[in-house]
Amino acid sequence: MSKQGLGAGELRKFGLMRWKSGELDLAVQSFEAALVLEPDNAMIWEDLCGVQLASGNSEMALGSIRRSIGIDDQRAQSWLMLATVLDRMQDQDLAASAYSQTIMLDETIASAHFGLGIIQLRRGKPAQALQCLQQAVTHDPQNANAHLCLGHACYATGDFVGTAKSLDAAGKFGPLDPASALVRIKAITFQAIIEGKVDEALANYSRLADAGDGSDDISQEAFALLNAHGYRDAARLVGQFRLRRDPDDAVQRYMNSAVAGEQLPRAPVDYVERHFDRLAPGFDRKLVDSLQYRGPEIMAQMIAVHRRRFDHILDLGCGTGLAAKPLSQFGGAAIGVDLSAAMLLQAEERRYYSELRKAEAIEFLAARPASFDLIFAADVLVYIGDLRAFFGALVDVLVKDGIIALSIETTNVADFELRPSGRFAHSVTYVEKLASDHFVKLESMTATLRLEMRHPIEGEFMVFRKR
Ligand SMILES: C[S@@+](CC[C@H](N)C(=O)[O-])C[C@H]1O[C@@H](n2cnc3c(N)ncnc32)[C@H](O)[C@@H]1O
Repeated sequence: MSKQGLGAGELRKFGLMRWKSGELDLAVQSFEAALVLEPDNAMIWEDLCGVQLASGNSEMALGSIRRSIGIDDQRAQSWLMLATVLDRMQDQDLAASAYSQTIMLDETIASAHFGLGIIQLRRGKPAQALQCLQQAVTHDPQNANAHLCLGHACYATGDFVGTAKSLDAAGKFGPLDPASALVRIKAITFQAIIEGKVDEALANYSRLADAGDGSDDISQEAFALLNAHGYRDAARLVGQFRLRRDPDDAVQRYMNSAVAGEQLPRAPVDYVERHFDRLAPGFDRKLVDSLQYRGPEIMAQMIAVHRRRFDHILDLGCGTGLAAKPLSQFGGAAIGVDLSAAMLLQAEERRYYSELRKAEAIEFLAARPASFDLIFAADVLVYIGDLRAFFGALVDVLVKDGIIALSIETTNVADFELRPSGRFAHSVTYVEKLASDHFVKLESMTATLRLEMRHPIEGEFMVFRKR
């Protein structure tokens, strides 16, 4: 069929037909011919973009849709197309703003809400994803994927009723994938626990999860997740269940106290040992990659402003030795002290420390008078609530003009408090007051220490010099 003599509208129609029948090259040619006749037709540029995208030519598609929007920026469908192209090109930020622009122009476009929701999920922002995905299913209840993703967003925000409801809705369109099926079972279990049916829910899970990941003890995950989402009563019930089952579980015993709001002076030695022995293998990856922990680097920078050389360094609660690299700039010999043998093993692999000792921090300090000119306590005082003995021991162990750098989680409600996370927070004034008799404050910085359930944990980095 000849295209000669056809108008732009007919050429467009012809292109759409070719596109529909899968003849993408012919469709492109038709749209291009139409655009020769009507170069300012935004709709035809949009069509051309669509077919270029279908041909896998994202760059050209991007150029076409930008032309379309340049001609008419009030067409919601063009913005949606731009968002789709950018999404395909993995430019999340620009895709998100194009989806938002689509929604501003026409809030009923379900696929824009869906696209934005997926981006928010990928960004690790489930609360924002939840809102978008709710809109997506409202405007298009037939989108099985939107229900599915909404279920996962609900789960990530701790809405277990919403999880089950959305995954059930998704399940109406076909069987759930195994991971989603397991999430549904977990959500039902956790909701039953929240409603007080702990024993029954955990027993049911063992039966139902056969179809899932094969692991039938969900109680540890239930405790951690319910606690993290703030379902303290439910977490307490699960914690009691776990301790009844294993009365020697030091980690659970301590965490039960933390969740119950008991105020202990410090975390017990057996808790610290077991907890960190367990965490040691994945510690660095989790802390640095997932939780965005940069404490040692920041503290070393703060110290370096005041002094660049130390002879005898103590890395207190050294863990896996994340401080080894930042501390190495100061020269000198470094001793690492920690309660967890598994953490120390990892620290050894860094080949930085001249000595690694398995010891309790304050006991170690008390036995080493006038030994160090730098003591580095990164993210370890979160396991010691009452800091009087710590500061008492510091006075003797640091040489004159010696430096102590530390980090704390901060609170304004008390000198120190044990949080449901199992970590202590301290008030800045409490630490300053304890330090004031023997130390001069050189520097202090309020900062995010790390993320917890994607929320920033606020804290303070402090550097003191001994008088
Ligand atoms: C969160 S990690 C921090 C590790 C390291 N300082 C860092 O910044 O990466 C806390 C470490 O302190 C240790 N720890 C906690 N309480 C302790 C104590 N009372 N005495 C010695 N080590 C302790 C733990 O075993 C763990 O390795």
